[in-house]
Amino acid sequence: MSVLKLYEYPSPILREKCQKVSVFDDKLRILLDNMLETMYVDKGCGLAAPQVGIAKRIIVVDPNPSDDDLSARQPMHLINPEIIWHSEETVLFKEGCLSLPEQRADVERYERVRVHYIDYDGNEQEILADDILAIILQHEIDHLDGILYIDHLSQLKRSRLLKKLEKYYNEEKHKKVE
Ligand code: NI
Repeated sequence: MSVLKLYEYPSPILREKCQKVSVFDDKLRILLDNMLETMYVDKGCGLAAPQVGIAKRIIVVDPNPSDDDLSARQPMHLINPEIIWHSEETVLFKEGCLSLPEQRADVERYERVRVHYIDYDGNEQEILADDILAIILQHEIDHLDGILYIDHLSQLKRSRLLKKLEKYYNEEKHKKVE
């Protein structure tokens, strides 16, 4: 397995509408393995293909990406995932994203969602998700349509967050030069 390069905001790939997967082969499974590995290494609980530079409808998630207890991990690979139902109730949750490092903000999401997808072995599946998994799935599926969680914020909150992100990038660049 290998760790893939992460694309960060404002990379244009993050704004692309991703294509459905139609070929299910070893190449796809290698990509799924590598995406999961990349997610664990970068300590995320979800990762979408555009975040590793691939405009395809693929996400990996794990609501419990523990490093201490590997047996507690709950990895899922979802190909062509689609929200087919959502609850009326919504919740606020403080979200982050590997493509906007070190930033967090409250986002309103549906409390429960039903998602149809194709799994690692090419089988059709459906899952009724609640709690954190429901939030991760909505965040990751948004990525496949070029939507980032900052798009759900007010303009004021978004511009504040992006200013902090720019500051973070500048500090990181500075560190690398030293
Ligand atoms: Ni994200």
